[in-house]
Amino acid sequence: MTVLNKKTIEDIEVSGKRVLVRCDFNVPILDGVIQDDRRIAESIPTIKYLVGHGARVILCSHLGRPKDGFEAKYSMAPVAEKLAELMGLNVRLCKDVVGDDAKSVTSALKNGEIALLENVRFHEEETKNDPAFAQKLADLADIYVNDAFGTAHRAHASTAGVANYLPAVCGYLIEREISIMGGALTSPKRPLVAVLGGAKVSDKIGVIKNLMTMVDTIIIGGGMAYTFYAAKGYGVGTSICEDDKIPLAKETMEAAEKSGLEMLLPLDNVVADRFAPDAASQVVPSNAIPAGWMGVDIGPATVALFCKAIANAGTVIWNGPMGVIEMPAFAKGTAALAHAMAESKAITIVGGGDLASAVDAFGLADKITHISTGGGATLEFLEGLELPGIACLNNK
Ligand code: 3PG
Repeated sequence: MTVLNKKTIEDIEVSGKRVLVRCDFNVPILDGVIQDDRRIAESIPTIKYLVGHGARVILCSHLGRPKDGFEAKYSMAPVAEKLAELMGLNVRLCKDVVGDDAKSVTSALKNGEIALLENVRFHEEETKNDPAFAQKLADLADIYVNDAFGTAHRAHASTAGVANYLPAVCGYLIEREISIMGGALTSPKRPLVAVLGGAKVSDKIGVIKNLMTMVDTIIIGGGMAYTFYAAKGYGVGTSICEDDKIPLAKETMEAAEKSGLEMLLPLDNVVADRFAPDAASQVVPSNAIPAGWMGVDIGPATVALFCKAIANAGTVIWNGPMGVIEMPAFAKGTAALAHAMAESKAITIVGGGDLASAVDAFGLADKITHISTGGGATLEFLEGLELPGIACLNNK
């Protein structure tokens, strides 16, 4: 286990104090209905601890990327409702972030009560990490708790700036994310296998390079595999391929070979005649993708190869899907790997975003050791970068 060298909520007296908790409640909402409440549910242990220890809890978060002040579709109202439902407690939604309503609601809170500020991104000063805005947030509270792992890669006023004005500690979610993912990298049960998918090499190259120094096997699947095929001189048909990243892919394969690292690429692929859920499809060897066809999933021989590596692993870290998972016909490779993860005796970690939702949809979430709530934050963590939302917190 990696020990996070930052103070946590258990290292500070919270009773009777106004505690500003930055959560990542940036959840998908369609027609006012929350589609995936994982991030809200994962924030509950910290909130419960604070409520149970008599804190006056002031929650805040961003939701989406509003451009110009208040916009009803980015209001935190559905989050307040969902949180109240999940906790069975009253959650008072403030009408603003640092205005009169926020001030009066938060100053009237009694011990163990909860308020939620409106979307912090209704102020453009939030993403600019404006010191005056950070100070206004700080003025609402006595203590700052960051538990927004999913936003810890942003140096914004509510994720980093506010820590300049208050005692600043982390919540249980950040502690858990860092100890499980950090532990998997620094003292893994071996073999340590990284499975990386997703569309673009450019999104993942930092992660690939960093993980290559730590893992025993690296598996490359998803859309980015086609750039690696192109680097091997294979034809890729109309598959997604970043031509300007072909030299980088070549360099990466050479570096893996030189260091004796096992790098697995797909052996076969499902290819489609167009990018559509009802496209005609066939399975072909990866070095024989026909002109005019595009790779949309890994094939059965690849599924067997990758699943064997997962079954033999001590630890598996997986980030990014193997195919076009929004089209059920091309989600089968990703589903097969998710089942292999669920059945494996290894410590299994799934990086956030679309893949986490997919694993949930396959009904396998509770068979995975850890599903990260981070998207970009998880990638930056796996890339070995410092996360400003964690760096700003008080050391132990
Ligand atoms: C995320 O969903 O990755 C986080 O909530 C951060 O959101 P952002 O990319 O809009 O900063």
